[in-house]
Amino acid sequence: MMKLRLDYNNMMEEFVGEYGLSKKDFEKIAPKFAPAAAAMKEKRANGAMDWRDLPHNQNEVVKDILDYAAKIRDEVEYFVLLGIGGSALGPMAVHQALQHPFYNDLPRGKRGPKFYIADNVDPERLTYLFQVVDISKCLFNVVSKSGATSETMSQLMIVKKMLESAIGKEKAKERIVATTDAKVGNLIKIAADEGYKTFIIPTGVGGRFSLLSPVGLLPAAICGIDIKGLLEGAAFMDELCNEDEVFENPAYAYAALNYAALCKGANICVMMPYADKLKYISDWYVQLWAESLGKKYDNDGNVVNVGPTPIKALGATDQHAQVQLFAEGPFDKFVVFVGVDKFHEDIEIPKIFGDMPNIGFLGGHTHGALLKTEQMATEFAIMKSGKMNMTITLPEVNAHTLGQLLYMFEVATGFMGELMNINAFDQPGVEEGKNATYAMMGHPGYEEKKKELDGAPDKKKEYMID
Ligand code: PA5
Repeated sequence: MMKLRLDYNNMMEEFVGEYGLSKKDFEKIAPKFAPAAAAMKEKRANGAMDWRDLPHNQNEVVKDILDYAAKIRDEVEYFVLLGIGGSALGPMAVHQALQHPFYNDLPRGKRGPKFYIADNVDPERLTYLFQVVDISKCLFNVVSKSGATSETMSQLMIVKKMLESAIGKEKAKERIVATTDAKVGNLIKIAADEGYKTFIIPTGVGGRFSLLSPVGLLPAAICGIDIKGLLEGAAFMDELCNEDEVFENPAYAYAALNYAALCKGANICVMMPYADKLKYISDWYVQLWAESLGKKYDNDGNVVNVGPTPIKALGATDQHAQVQLFAEGPFDKFVVFVGVDKFHEDIEIPKIFGDMPNIGFLGGHTHGALLKTEQMATEFAIMKSGKMNMTITLPEVNAHTLGQLLYMFEVATGFMGELMNINAFDQPGVEEGKNATYAMMGHPGYEEKKKELDGAPDKKKEYMID
């Protein structure tokens, strides 16, 4: 069984010195462990964490997805996902991790439809997308749990109109597939009225925890990813995450380390994979961690304004961009390295330039060895500079190990929320901006908000440079 590993030696003061964690630091937070574990159990039992059951309860859904994917895969040339936040980051991370890095450039026999994700309303990007895809050969997957997100719904409106004029109203209906809640929101209504093929995001599965629902599974299946393997990996991790003993449970241990570091003032967590395949895992993780754990109120209603700040980095690339800061900057951060034991491909560096010792030594090694060595060297350098770091290692990147990793981070997020005594599953902080947008764009019912905005203080010229 390929199982991921967590090494936190370099989080400990024995290795990094005074800014590291000590047994005392764990003793201080230990009283929170048992109540947090109990809360996780209770929430799971009362349906507040339905995403935890996704690895186990989707046999029918998986069959439906695979049947649909098999049918549509050869019918269309392009597959475009319309979604944002949790409805886009997961599919993007899985695609990058498990597909050929130049998937869209492969010959048709070696891939499914070309895959694009439109996760913004930047008018230039969408316009340019329509310059490179033939709309008459596109399948659009509109993904929105709430079915109300302006960015995604406006994209649907644009695409529906374009499709209908390109291929006619009836055919257009077959080229839009909706992934949404069974009851809530406009999307489910539109899908029913139009007769779009629809996949359901279960009620208790929130956006950023929806990766293992049809949100992530459908795009993965259409592009040819082993979605059963992904779910099996997550199910395997779920078993490990049922353990109450914190340091026997990888997700709880990961959260406890993060929490101990946070309590010690290291409120910045750098997610730094050493594999291009895992690059977008960091983007997904940043959203999961930030939106779940950045909160104004705790569970008792106190204003706490807490939250660790996740930062993304990529090895070795960011050794030449951010590592200087990680090594010599303030003791307010720690690095989570994510490495792999085995790359699927490797390239040998030829033995040339032997007369130039400062590059000649590279000859005979491989790029895989160089990357791995650079990871170990950076771990060592960060440790030597007194900065905490830990390493998660995947034996290799495949559907099973990726399922383990993603599920572990999701459970860790829930447990971290319990340790911090905040609700990891809401996001009230994004409402104000959403409501202000509604008011300014003329959404009925937001007239009061519009007045509030109109009454905002005028900007002062003295603070502008033009
Ligand atoms: O995690 C979340 O809830 C959010 O990031 C959502 O995924 C994001 O706002 C998109 O929402 P929806 O899927 O409802 O369109």
